Amino acid sequence: MMKCEISQNIQAAANLIQLGELVAFATETVYGLGANALNPEAVAQIFAVKQRPHFDPLIVHIASTGQLDELTTEFSSTAEKLASKFWPGPLTLVLPKKKVVPDLVTSGLDSVAIRIPAHPMARKLLEITQLPIAAPSANKFGRLSPTRAVDVAEQLGDEIKLILDGGPCTVGVESTVIQCLGDQPVLLRPGGISLEEIQACIGEIRLAELEDYAEANSPVSPGMLPKHYAPSTRLMIVDHPEQLPAAGSLGVLSLYPLEDTEFRDCQFTVQQILSPTGDLKMAAANFFAALRKLDAAGIDQIVALRLPETGLGRTINNRLERAAAS
Ligand code: TXA
Ligand code: MG
Repeated sequence: MMKCEISQNIQAAANLIQLGELVAFATETVYGLGANALNPEAVAQIFAVKQRPHFDPLIVHIASTGQLDELTTEFSSTAEKLASKFWPGPLTLVLPKKKVVPDLVTSGLDSVAIRIPAHPMARKLLEITQLPIAAPSANKFGRLSPTRAVDVAEQLGDEIKLILDGGPCTVGVESTVIQCLGDQPVLLRPGGISLEEIQACIGEIRLAELEDYAEANSPVSPGMLPKHYAPSTRLMIVDHPEQLPAAGSLGVLSLYPLEDTEFRDCQFTVQQILSPTGDLKMAAANFFAALRKLDAAGIDQIVALRLPETGLGRTINNRLERAAAS
């Protein structure tokens, strides 16, 4: 029997956060598993419940830019531009941190990842508590991110007291993470704000490569680890419908409906279409729920058709690649 309550009681959630307990809550990207970021014991619970390795730092959520001074030492002009354009919203900025932020939150790094979420429920929770709330996605480490309260309950329902139900997440993929430490911003994780939107705001930006982390011998942004966001069912990515396997019990994930002729000999069992009109924002909003459905379909293999490498298609492809990595 599940112990947790699924409700819209923001005040109850705020009380739990203030008491040093965990609460899962809706954001516009994915559901987060939150705790008072300034309370190391509360933060330790996040790592325990998620079974998350301690080298993987957390994102700290705040209600307004007025809280930046307490947590960070510097806000570059690039950070300023990005924040004024995309906050509140699916953007996370990695900034130089102040001592008050516990090492546990940042995995000992000198920087802290900060985001002002747009979801009204998340904002209200942050406003009532007046606390910075550390929150990773509310799933077990390495698994699919939750975009509905029931997804959180399925994985974490026995271990937390409350899930703040804010409906299905409208963005559906995690925030875009940008490091703003030196003069040169670096895009650490593609996310809910597309690369094109970022470039339109600040011009060219360096994209972090996996080698950046390998070289430094420390996963600077371990969301970049090759294997992540994974269903239990084996997942393979193909570039064209002709590459779909001809046999086996398959589930097919594609952006828009395929013509019968495109399937040729492929005998798939189930299909998930991310957007009938090929809209990439809609595709992102549907992405994790579609993967969950395929994962629950009892098939041997999920085959995903790569999306166009533009807009949020790039973000979805990034998640697919990590889901397919072994
Ligand atoms: O949309 C989101 O970002 C969601 C919602 C809940 O806000 N949260 C989320 O958290 O996706 P999580 O823990 O799944 O991913 C956090 C990412 C990881 O890739 C982590 O390595 C990176 O942020 N990160 C956190 N602090 C960092 C830091 N100081 N330097 C570099 N990367 C950092
Ligand atoms: Mg995550």
